[in-house]
Amino acid sequence: TTNKTFTMIKPDAVRNGHIGAILEKITSAGFKIAAMKYTQLSKRDAQEFYAIHKERPFYGELVAFMTSGPIVSAILEKENAVEDFRALIGATNPEEAAEGTIRRLFATDITENAVHGSDSDENAAIEGAFHFSGREIY
Ligand code: CMP
Repeated sequence: TTNKTFTMIKPDAVRNGHIGAILEKITSAGFKIAAMKYTQLSKRDAQEFYAIHKERPFYGELVAFMTSGPIVSAILEKENAVEDFRALIGATNPEEAAEGTIRRLFATDITENAVHGSDSDENAAIEGAFHFSGREIY
């Protein structure tokens, strides 16, 4: 069955001019765009979005990075969306990401890792709802 995942093209990839190339990889892999916006997270937005990581040593750095410039956020639709999107983006650390994956191609390092992908159907729904209202989802 068709389901949804949530993604962000992170500030590093936007700054480095990779929006077009990343969207090309995503649509070529068969994902349909259900919602999309170009936006910048406030500090509060980022703190809330990443609340699950708040005890981690990298939390402050992550919030600073994610608010450092605009992002593209999107809800994507496809059969097996969450799992297939995680395969398309590759491991969190680009040095460990498989050849040809979005992070291998476009990420800088483990923090500035080009894209986000939801890790479960439940989180995809929570994250999508954090960024988009019902009327923005098609
Ligand atoms: P993502 O998996 O999209 O969401 C959590 C983010 O935290 C992750 O991408 C990285 O940007 C960041 N992150 C995860 N692990 C580390 C780490 N060990 N050091 C720094 N940043 C990290």
